[in-house]
Amino acid sequence: MGYPVTRPRRLRQNKAIREMVAGTALDRRDLIYPLFIDEAATGRKPVPSMPGVERLSLADLDAEADEVAGLGIPAVLLFGLPAEKDPEGEAAYRPGNVIEKSVKAIKRRHKDLIVMADVCLCEYTTHGHCGPIRGDTVDNDATLDIIAKTAVSYARAGADVVAPSGMMDGMVHAIRSELDFHGFKDTIIMSYAAKYASAMYGPFREAASSGCKGFDRSTYQMDPANSDEALREVALDLDEGADIVMVKPALSYLDIVYRVKAEFRAPVAAYSVSGEYAMIKAAAANGWIDGDRVAMEALLSMKRAGADLIVTYFAKDAARLLR
Ligand code: PBG
Ligand code: ZN
Repeated sequence: MGYPVTRPRRLRQNKAIREMVAGTALDRRDLIYPLFIDEAATGRKPVPSMPGVERLSLADLDAEADEVAGLGIPAVLLFGLPAEKDPEGEAAYRPGNVIEKSVKAIKRRHKDLIVMADVCLCEYTTHGHCGPIRGDTVDNDATLDIIAKTAVSYARAGADVVAPSGMMDGMVHAIRSELDFHGFKDTIIMSYAAKYASAMYGPFREAASSGCKGFDRSTYQMDPANSDEALREVALDLDEGADIVMVKPALSYLDIVYRVKAEFRAPVAAYSVSGEYAMIKAAAANGWIDGDRVAMEALLSMKRAGADLIVTYFAKDAARLLR
């Protein structure tokens, strides 16, 4: 039954019919907008490699949350920059930490805005690694104790979702048991389950002052050449109680998003990382591409691959374009 009976162009002859048969749609209700809060700052500060993104001070959170909520974006993902760092990352969970203050500030005004808190130590350690260093590597099990306390601190402040991003073995289990022990049974865990040791995190490390010293993160983040391991990582995290599993980065890893969705049918988040944003913004600033269209096409590709949620620095732009 090929041509001339079958003519695929019939279903492309106008916009209405194209949209009806499309099968995938971007929806602002799936977007998560990352925020960087600098405890020591007194005002907003642009991030040079991420045009349109700023580090915020605590005082800027009201206006920022108003804008995000006003655009119909349902969730923010918080990254904290502490006033002081230490080798063990204690500033992540110390009472009155920057995320605790940020969550409270946002929830006071917007109780329906979903507040997600990244749980990792790289912004809090002097060496910039995602846990304390013993010898020449990050100590997995020592890190678990610290991030479990950290997750409880954020849940207690009112975070709806905690998002461990350090790729430590057992991190979801450690956090789930500590949350439950303290009565936070309904706090959601969105695990960075398959997070790759990517070169695409550069602008983020500038934004979050979280670049690492001495050695890189390839002993804990995943090897970009490995895809089966992503499925094992996701299986383990789901087994430990992850509610949402994330694949990161997004654009170069859509095969992983697709496989994870096909295999597990669990809620999948894709993190479109800082480098993806920077590349599109830079090319657009040169007039080489239509930045809005390329960004929307990239986000759509993540949905088409199987992502339910998308973390993106384009969230505000996308929400406006989807209006
Ligand atoms: C670290 C963390 C990273 C990002 C979020 N949390 C990456 C890293 O520095 O290894 C990257 C996000 C981005 O590039 O947008 N736990
Ligand atoms: Zn980290």
